[in-house]
Amino acid sequence: MRDTVSLCLNGENRHIPQGSLLSEVISGEAPCGGRGSCGKCRVLAFGCLSPVNERERRHLSAEELAQGWRLACMTRAEGDCEVQTGSAAVPRILTEGVGDAYNISPSFLKYGVAVDVGTTTLAAKLFDREGHELAQTACLNPQSFAGADVITRIGAVLAGESFRLKNVLCRAIDERIAELCAVAGVAATDVGEAVIAGNAAMLHLLTGTDPEPLSRAPFAVKRKFGETVTAGELDVSVLLPETPVYLPPCISAFVGADTVCAVLADGTARGGTRMIADIGTNGEIFLCKDNKFYACSMAAGPAFEGVGISCGMRGESGAVDRVDLVNGKLYARIIGGGQAAGICGSGLADAVACLLDAELLDESGYLDEDPTYICSRVALKQADIRAVQLAKSAVYAGIATLLSAQGIKASDLDGFSLAGGFGNYLNMRSAARIGLLPAELARIARPVGNAALKGAEKLLLCPEMRDASRAIAESTETLELGGDPVFAENYMMGMLF
Ligand code: FES
Repeated sequence: MRDTVSLCLNGENRHIPQGSLLSEVISGEAPCGGRGSCGKCRVLAFGCLSPVNERERRHLSAEELAQGWRLACMTRAEGDCEVQTGSAAVPRILTEGVGDAYNISPSFLKYGVAVDVGTTTLAAKLFDREGHELAQTACLNPQSFAGADVITRIGAVLAGESFRLKNVLCRAIDERIAELCAVAGVAATDVGEAVIAGNAAMLHLLTGTDPEPLSRAPFAVKRKFGETVTAGELDVSVLLPETPVYLPPCISAFVGADTVCAVLADGTARGGTRMIADIGTNGEIFLCKDNKFYACSMAAGPAFEGVGISCGMRGESGAVDRVDLVNGKLYARIIGGGQAAGICGSGLADAVACLLDAELLDESGYLDEDPTYICSRVALKQADIRAVQLAKSAVYAGIATLLSAQGIKASDLDGFSLAGGFGNYLNMRSAARIGLLPAELARIARPVGNAALKGAEKLLLCPEMRDASRAIAESTETLELGGDPVFAENYMMGMLF
């Protein structure tokens, strides 16, 4: 048993095992999985800490080190210490979603909880039997200490971190449910049922199911879900152990229960020719045509989540989230005002569109001036433009390939919904200008917000929809884009602006 030391984190005292890495005890981004190579886990730390190592010196200047900046994944708490993180910057996490009407007939007696576990964020809501929302909450997914994307996290599981990844997630769910109940003034033991949606990797990690088949070709799921387990089995300890927890079904390794929930909330599968897309690190697209369902997914990369971009950051205080070009001059809007600290996905799409309009960037992606300043302290480099090209062409090609596989054009769609945070804040003119979305789709795009959470809410309040969700998951045909020559061609074409 290790001795404990006292850690004062953002003014709050706690006790942690001596020698803990700071990244183990604070939640924050770790895009490189804690290898000290991305430099994104900076914190201000003082007190009894491990010595500064070479990797930290590579990312932090002598002046920054003197000010107390450290890399959380490289710094151990050897004794009592104080750490300040950037969490004063409130993350913009989308909890609201748009959905169609349905009959409310829950099976719980008093209260129920709907949760969406995303790779980056976690959002939850508490409801009563009449379907009234009593409270909502959200936080960053604490698994980010093991990497920003699902493949890095699965790598961490394979390296023996399975328990830790499951445990931090269960504790975060516990804390969120406890918070919901505290806000609503109800007892957690009165929560009679929960629905937890997520992508296939998140549900595997949550349930302690081996995620290894998700990490290599032919990319299969070990478990498709669409089943009820108990809170005790999951180790969600704030609920009574026998509390049923419904885990919605997945379609495939990369089209998960979050997509099924989004489809259910949006009504994409109700007929006609409709499409819904969620653009994140992994983009998922679902198409309904003549009551038949098709889906595909593509690795878009994290550029539109503000990761892997030199000045990139999540959509939170200090992020440039919108850029306009007025009389040849760029104007940046900053979340919360003040000095810009970086640029988030929606700002990035705007910035690239404005640079194209201003002819500072050509259609091949060549930047006249490298770097080009968007505002003071935020600039885009040539490598950032390349990352945007890779991300937007993957999304564009996925949509174009799924449509052409069914012999339809974008203009044939009766509806196109955009789920998720990025889609919600994205300026559609910029999306069309940079070639992220076909212009016909950008024109009719309807942002539906956190549709995955909305769908989880529907499955909680109307359990009879669970059969419909299973039917959607089982009958959806997944289009494999890897090795598809049409996708490859669309991808190449999509690289141009
Ligand atoms: S340097 Fe990448 S997480 Fe610490």
